[in-house]
Amino acid sequence: MNATLTASTKTRLEPTRIANETYLIHDHAGEHQGPVVVALNSMVIRGAEPIVVDTGMAENREQFLADVFSLVEPRDIRWLFISHDDVDHTGNLNALMEAAPNATLVINWFMTERMGASLDVSPLRQRWVGDGEVIDVGDRKLLTVRPPIFDSPTTRGLFDTTTGVYWSSDSFAAPMLTPVRNVADINADFWSEGMMTFNQYISPWITVTDEAKFGAAVDRVEALGASSIVGCHTPLIGRDHIDRALAATRRSPFATVMPQPEQAMLEQIQRSLLAEAA
Ligand SMILES: [Fe+2]
Ligand SMILES: [Fe+2]
Repeated sequence: MNATLTASTKTRLEPTRIANETYLIHDHAGEHQGPVVVALNSMVIRGAEPIVVDTGMAENREQFLADVFSLVEPRDIRWLFISHDDVDHTGNLNALMEAAPNATLVINWFMTERMGASLDVSPLRQRWVGDGEVIDVGDRKLLTVRPPIFDSPTTRGLFDTTTGVYWSSDSFAAPMLTPVRNVADINADFWSEGMMTFNQYISPWITVTDEAKFGAAVDRVEALGASSIVGCHTPLIGRDHIDRALAATRRSPFATVMPQPEQAMLEQIQRSLLAEAA
C-alpha cells in the first residue's frame, strides 16, 4: 500500500460532542488498507477539572494533541485517565503529561508494572485507581467499572454519573466499512456480527468462561443505565442502541466468528508487496 496515498486520503473526523462538555476524539486504522476500518478513539470531559480519557496511538500524536488542545488548554487539564496499558490507549500518554503540567495520571499499580520504563511519569504525578472506585473531579463523580470484554488485566471503564456517558475501553468494539461517528450508520447485522467477532478476538476466554459470571459482568454495565456508550474501537452507541450492544455481547461466547488471518494471508500480502516493488 502506498503510504503517501493512505495518509493523504485518510478521512478526518473533527471531535464529536457526545454530551454536555464531553467530546469524542477520533482516529482510525485500516482505511484503504484492509476490508474494514477500526476506530481508535479517546475522550475529553471539560468540567471544573478537565479530564482526558486514553490517548490513542503514537503515530497519531500531532492530530491527537491538536484535537485535545482545541477543546482544553494544556495547563487546564487536571486528569489523564488511562483505561489499560495497551499501545492504542497509551501511545501519547507521556507526551500529554509533558504538555499538561497540572495533570495527574490516573492508572493503577499493575499498569506501572506492565509499562515498565516506557512509562515516563513521576510517581508524584500518579494516582492509582482500581475497579469500582470513584474519582471526584470537582463538578462530577466518575465511577470506574470494568467492562465485560477486555484484553488487559488492568482494564477499568469510566462512568460519568452526571452525563451518563460510559467509556468502555475495548468493550462493545466493532469494525466499520468506512469511518462513521455513530453505530446507527452501520448496517445492524454487520454491526452485531462484527462486535461478536471482536469480542472473541479481544477476549477469547469468554468461550470457556462460566456463562452466569460473564452475564453478571454484562449486567453490571446494563445496571448503569448509561445515556450512551463510547469506547476506543466503536463509534458512539446512543441510548437507542445500547440494548443491542448488550445483547450482542451476551451472545458473543456462543457465536461462530470468522477465523483470524493466518500464514496464507501473510504470503498473499508478501506477494503483492514484491509485485509492487518489481
Ligand atoms: Fe486493549
Ligand atoms: Fe484497544
